[in-house]
Amino acid sequence: MGKSTRIKRIGILTGGGDCPGLNAVIRGVAKPAHDNGLSVMGILDGFEGLVEGKAIELYNKDVSGILARGGTILGSSNKGDPYHWPEDVDGEIKIFDRSKNAKKYYDAWGLDALIAIGGDGTMHISRKLGEMGMNIVGVPKTIDNDLEATDLTFGHDSAVYVVSEAIDRLHTTASSHHRVMVIEVMGRYAGWIALNGGLAGGADVILLPEMPFDWDVLYDRVVNRNIMGKRFSIVCVAEGAKPKNGKMVVKAKDIKRTDPIQLGGIGEVVAKNISKNTGLETRFTVLGHLQRGGSPTPFDRILSTKFGVNAINLAINKQFGHMVALKGNQIQSVRIEDAIAKQKLVTPGDQAVQAGHAVGISFGTKSL
Ligand code: F6P
Repeated sequence: MGKSTRIKRIGILTGGGDCPGLNAVIRGVAKPAHDNGLSVMGILDGFEGLVEGKAIELYNKDVSGILARGGTILGSSNKGDPYHWPEDVDGEIKIFDRSKNAKKYYDAWGLDALIAIGGDGTMHISRKLGEMGMNIVGVPKTIDNDLEATDLTFGHDSAVYVVSEAIDRLHTTASSHHRVMVIEVMGRYAGWIALNGGLAGGADVILLPEMPFDWDVLYDRVVNRNIMGKRFSIVCVAEGAKPKNGKMVVKAKDIKRTDPIQLGGIGEVVAKNISKNTGLETRFTVLGHLQRGGSPTPFDRILSTKFGVNAINLAINKQFGHMVALKGNQIQSVRIEDAIAKQKLVTPGDQAVQAGHAVGISFGTKSL
């Protein structure tokens, strides 16, 4: 489309795993879009809807009253990558490139731009669709907070809130029964949820994927707490945490997904080993999808609204191929290809890790 032509019609989709705040972004995009005379098409179930032609018109009434609602009114999928499209061929799952279908519907629906809300997987797909001539604007979402280009993704604060509340609850039962309580939290290959949730909940030990732990340091920590008269411990374990010279625990593999690995199970392994090697009574809890459900926190509602409003402004100003990002307390834009260049991981020098050390939290490592 020419430089002087105004955009008239946008599409919006939510890709990958859901999280609180998606509806707040949809509202933040659609309300100003309508006010600017644009029509909005809601694509269903992430990129799946773009490949299969599933979409609905989104009117003002559809995006009213959804700010505080968890999940996504559009549906989502983490199996709908147009470039990695699974199909059952004679009982066997085969992978195809269906990106031409995506372009076909984008053109047929008369879209001038597409707002793609998602994590790193969604941004990788968005970059490739951009190369095929689609005008994409990205909005970063994930409870994992593992996108380098933005200080925060929405959904993370809500997940951390759930973890911290869960740890508060584990504290009371742990202290009553003088037990070690292990809590496994999400985050994939990044430890941000475990780090921030563990810090907020006052965990005694936090185990992160980025800092492989030493079993003996872990055992010493929970035993020493007992000796010092604190007869319970809380161990917050990221699903991607692994011991030194060990591997991440994989729950399942699903080739239909772009990343087939599903992590999970380290919490149980940690709990069993603590019990076996220290004699302390130990229980484990896997928090799972509770971290992704429910209403967004006020922080996430505000961030999501700002992201949505800035995303539609980028589209109106034809800054395609960009993603909105939080830098300090300002919303800025970054090129999608730069946004996906690097994953944001915890480093031992991170201020939250340092603060944890300072208040006596063990990361299962011998030195800082
Ligand atoms: O990326 C978000 C996330 O919740 C990860 O923390 C977790 O590993 C994964 O998605 C779980 O995916 P699923 O909902 O497919 O089980």
